[in-house]
Formats: sequence, C-alpha cells, structure tokens
Amino acid sequence: MEFSIKKLAPETAKAGCIVVGVHQAGELTQAARAVDQASKGAVRAALRDLSGKTGSTLLLRGLPGIAAERVLLVGLGEREEFAEAAFRDAVRAAAAALKELGAKDAALFLADLKVGSRPSAWNVRQAVLATREAFYRFDELKTQKKPPDPALVSVILPFSPDSQLEQALTEAAATADGAALARNLGNLPANLCTPTYLADEAKKIARQFKLGIDVLERRDMEKLGMGAMLSVARASHQPPKFIVLRYSGAGKSARPVVLVGKGITFDTGGISLKPSSEMDEMKFDMSGAASVLGTVRALAAMKAPVNVIGVAPACENMPGGHASRPGDVVTTLSGQTVEILNTDAEGRLILCDALTYAERFKPEAVVDIATLTGACVVALGHVASGLFSNDQTLADEIREAADDAWDRVWQMPLWEDYQEQLRSNFADMANIGGRPAGSVTAACFLARFTRKLRWAHIDIAGTAWKSGREKGSTGRPVPLLVRFLLRHAGRK
Ligand code: BES
Ligand code: MN
Ligand code: ZN
Repeated sequence: MEFSIKKLAPETAKAGCIVVGVHQAGELTQAARAVDQASKGAVRAALRDLSGKTGSTLLLRGLPGIAAERVLLVGLGEREEFAEAAFRDAVRAAAAALKELGAKDAALFLADLKVGSRPSAWNVRQAVLATREAFYRFDELKTQKKPPDPALVSVILPFSPDSQLEQALTEAAATADGAALARNLGNLPANLCTPTYLADEAKKIARQFKLGIDVLERRDMEKLGMGAMLSVARASHQPPKFIVLRYSGAGKSARPVVLVGKGITFDTGGISLKPSSEMDEMKFDMSGAASVLGTVRALAAMKAPVNVIGVAPACENMPGGHASRPGDVVTTLSGQTVEILNTDAEGRLILCDALTYAERFKPEAVVDIATLTGACVVALGHVASGLFSNDQTLADEIREAADDAWDRVWQMPLWEDYQEQLRSNFADMANIGGRPAGSVTAACFLARFTRKLRWAHIDIAGTAWKSGREKGSTGRPVPLLVRFLLRHAGRK
C-alpha cells in the first residue's frame, strides 16, 4: 500500500473512491460541502441514511459532477467533540469500508481535518498507521478460505507538498512495517515462535538493513553469570537466546539508547503453574521483545539519525524436572541474589540480567518494555501502558512521545517506600512483593538493577494484545518507541 501527498479538490480527484467526512446533525466538512455543491446536493440528500456517528459510513456511486466513481461518506461525530480519538476511529472505519469494497485507490479527504492543535504531520502519521492497522491480517496459518489480498494499493492524502509531511510519511510507513513485524511475531504461536525463531528474525533484519547482531547462547550466558535469566530457561527444551541488535544512524560519539524487551515465548508460570483458562494468551509474553525488533527495524528502514541497541532476552518459562522451584536462590549478573518465591514472576528475572548487560553500552538511556504484570492490566486496563522511571526528564520525554504517537502511557510511582515488600529472609531480595501494587513492586525489583542508568520501564501487559473475538497482537508500543527515539534525536 502506497501513500502519497497530493493537493487535490474532492470533486475533480480522479481516484477510485474519495472519502469525505460529515459530522453529526448534518454538518458537512469542507470536502463534503465541495462534493455536495458539485453534485447539486447529492451529499445532503444522502444524509438521511447516515447517522453521522463516529465511524458510520455510507457509499455513494456515480454522483453527477464528481470525477470519482465512488464517494464514501464517513461520520465524524459531534463537531465540538472531534479530537484525536474520533480522527483515528473515522480513518479506521474508512479503511475498513475500503477493504470491504475492494477499492484499488482512494483519496482520503479526512486526513486533512484539523485535530485540535496537532500539526499536519501528526495527521499524516496517524492516517497511515490507522489505515495500515485496519488492513493488517494474520492468516498465514489458515489453509482454507483465505480472503483475497487487500486491493487498496494507493492512498492519497490531500495536503500541499511539503518536505516535513513527506518525512512524516516515510516515518509512518516504516513504523507501520515495524508494528506489523511485531504483530506477526506476537500472533505466531509458541511452537513456531521460539527463542531460536526470534533470534533468526533478528538476524534477518540485521542482514536486510546491515545492522550489527550478536546472539548469546546458553553457554555464553553461563560464562557471563546470568543466573536469573538461566533460572527461567532451565526446564524448557528450547534453548534460550540473548539477542542484541544494533543500529547506528548517528555519529560514533553519540551514546546509544538501549531498548530491552521481554522475550518469554511462552509463560506457563513454571512450577507456580498458571491456571489453564486463557493460558494460550501467554504466547504474547514476548511482545516486548517483538516491539524492540519492530522499532529497530523501523528506525533502520527510515535511516533515522539515532544510535539504538535492541536487547531481547528470549526463553520459555516451563515446568519440568529441571525447573526452578519456589524458594530457589539464584545469583544475577549484577552479583545480587534473588529468592524465587514465585516462578511465574519470571519476566523480571530475565530483564534484570538484560538491564545489567545494557550497562556495557554506556547508554544515554535504557527503556525496557515488558508484558510484566497482570496487576498493570487491573490498574490501567487496555488503554494506557504503565510507565515507571528513575529519571523524571526521561519519563516526561516518553510521556510526550506517547501522547504524540497516541500510543499512550500513564506514569506510576517508583517510590522507595515500596521496596520493603521485596525483602527476603534468604537472599538480597525476593522476586515478588505480594498482592498490593503488583506492577509497582515489579518495577521496584527492576530498579535495583538500574541504579547506574537513566532508565524507564513500560509495562505493556494490558496493551500488547487484545483478547476475545478480536484476539491478536496490537503492535504496541512500536509507534511510541519510534516517536520517542525520533523526538529524542531532535525530530519533533
Ligand atoms: N506474563 C505475566 C504477566 C501477565 C499476566 C501479562 C496476564 C498479561 C496478562 C507475568 O510473567 C506474570 O505471570 N506475572 C505475575 C506476577 C506475580 C506472580 C507476582 C502476575 O502478574 O500474576
Ligand atoms: Mn509469569
Ligand atoms: Zn510472563
């Protein structure tokens, strides 16, 4: 699917389908008004068949005076309430209708609607991402009744040519590709998407974009002393992989940002076995790692002026004769010891070693991304990811990038007061902090391994995938991470 920026008038645009917006109560947008006038009132006449509610659609054909064969009307809701969410919903609804129609090319006269104080580049990025999201599908494992390939090949965004908008377009296309990669990896089941598979994917990205790559094997981790990471991988028949993917788009002297993604390819809970209902969703427990690979791919594809290192510790958390037991004490790469009171709190165990490993890159900042706690889903649901940081400047940067990408986060406390919940009678700390504030104590555990770093932690347990009928990976927070790195490099 190709997006392009071209200033067109809706009535003369030679596209297979033009998409125009109408607000509730029959209030037409400028584009809808133009179509209405050129067609001698055909839009107004059709309004009795369209509620105008956000995301409602109505297709008109062969309007007199209109060059395009088809006109898709899209409801935008109340004009006073039109904002970010309505913009995205309208674009998504338009895309869904275009998909249904099998339209080959479309001009999106929604994209240029003013959204609060957002600049046009924001509209361009959001329009591309929302459209690509709506066209995403994962049917590679179905043998029958595969729907034909989506037909939409060209989408015109009606803006005057402008180098900043062209840049936004390039950025958004690469971000959409990165998010699609993350989604594919998330959606693949754990019998296919193993730690080895993730490492091979990282190698593929490295080859395609000429990136640096290291994959540490079990014996490397043993030599280094990654006792926490290895304690999680113990019972699995799948060998653990510790993936390091490096993209250098800035000068040699610029210190890198390190992204660390939790890569548990399946989380059974281990000996602290999870209940069986919905356990299949624990194939998504590598979504942090997938988002890191997707983000590095996106930045490399758009040749972003940043130095970024993606670190993805990958393994499987299984029960078995070799599994770690509750009460086991392990020595982490940092030298600190941990009493594993619950083998289901495994994410922090692989992350703590990865965070210590990240020190060697003398990073400017480290951000880890993890489907870390069910408690985060309880706290924030499926809207915001949880944000924790030991540096408020970094937290603010991430919050602003998240708002910009509309891939939002909510900051939670990382106060010392919570640390006492992690005390252990037998080791430097326990790996769980009890029921209260479960996502905070998980972050506090990680904080003990990042004292030397400017660090933030993003808990994506509620945002990385959807459950129920729409079950599937979301590709979040690739849009946020890409935006963060670009803004960090000075590109607003
Ligand atoms: N991967 C899970 C967290 C999770 C659970 C994400 C459900 C999304 C939905 C993580 O490894 C885990 O099991 N965490 C435990 C921690 C607890 C044992 C302290 C949890 O949240 O229950
Ligand atoms: Mn777990
Ligand atoms: Zn987990």
